[in-house]
Amino acid sequence: MAGQRIPVVIDCDTGVDDALALLFAVRHPGLELRAVTCVAGNTDVDGVVRNTLTVLERAGAGDVPVARGAERPLVEAVRSARHVHGADGMGDLGLPAPTRRPVDVDAVTLLRREILASPRPVTLIPTAPLTNIALLLRTHPEVTRNIERIVFMGGAVATGNATPVAEFNVWHDPEAAAVLLTAGVPITMYGLDVFQRVVVPGAEVRRLRASTEPGARLAGDLLAHRPAVPSSTVPSPGGADGDDPDGGLGDAGAVCAVADPEGLTTRLLPVEVSLAPGPTRGQTIVDRRVRPGEAEIHGGGRDRAMVDVALDVDVPRYVRLYLGTVTRTAAGGPRGNN
Ligand code: BDR
Ligand code: CA
Repeated sequence: MAGQRIPVVIDCDTGVDDALALLFAVRHPGLELRAVTCVAGNTDVDGVVRNTLTVLERAGAGDVPVARGAERPLVEAVRSARHVHGADGMGDLGLPAPTRRPVDVDAVTLLRREILASPRPVTLIPTAPLTNIALLLRTHPEVTRNIERIVFMGGAVATGNATPVAEFNVWHDPEAAAVLLTAGVPITMYGLDVFQRVVVPGAEVRRLRASTEPGARLAGDLLAHRPAVPSSTVPSPGGADGDDPDGGLGDAGAVCAVADPEGLTTRLLPVEVSLAPGPTRGQTIVDRRVRPGEAEIHGGGRDRAMVDVALDVDVPRYVRLYLGTVTRTAAGGPRGNN
């Protein structure tokens, strides 16, 4: 409905690019960030809680409740990505400890409470391993009656990052991802195929870093910690126009896709998570065949979830959207020397 903000809840493992996603969600005028829940992933769950509270404080967010969630995956051992996100999990920017505190209920309880209390159905945006979401769906399946859709960052149609075929969030907790896919609500998979393409040019990163406004400056510092992955679809190489390399939006692209779905091209396709031990574990197997194969013809077809899989993204559109949004204050107006 025109004029109404989209109620969203983010489940994250902040995380440099989760932080970029939170900054965007707080400042986008069309989104109402109802809660943030934390899960082990990029770093341990206590580090994720601390980083999340720090970002919300810097962004000037209102009183958004933050809850601590699962400290390890359902079956797998915990395996952080600190080599990518820094020792503190958020770029080692030396930010002061937050004064905010998490709520005194766990993530699953907060998720249930905020989803069911929302006057309008909630869009759930997981940008992390799916452990909290699987626990929620199994503990309180009634939440799906007030979930509009789930837009998750995870998976890949083509190439993985944690392994040659598996993306980190799904690989970290494949069983949880399999539960998510069978949630019975519309699901959009914002996978590596689009995730890696949305890149902010170095000149814009530099401009953000020079801002006097703390939230915009933090966005610049975070982007500077996320040099773009070289790709034939990403033109200008990092650092071509100065000291700052181009910076990937990462998880923030999934939140852009909620605020501006027109920028994303998706196709409804069957998706399955490989739970087998060995080299395919954690792979999202996306069936792009145009006709049934021998497996189906001979009665060996499998039941698979139908998912809106992101296949293409309007990169300049999301970069403009991101920059225009994070240089607003939480209250709405442009700020700083932007
Ligand atoms: C995902 O893994 C994490 O390192 C990022 O925050 C993102 O959610 C990409 O594979
Ligand atoms: Ca993440």
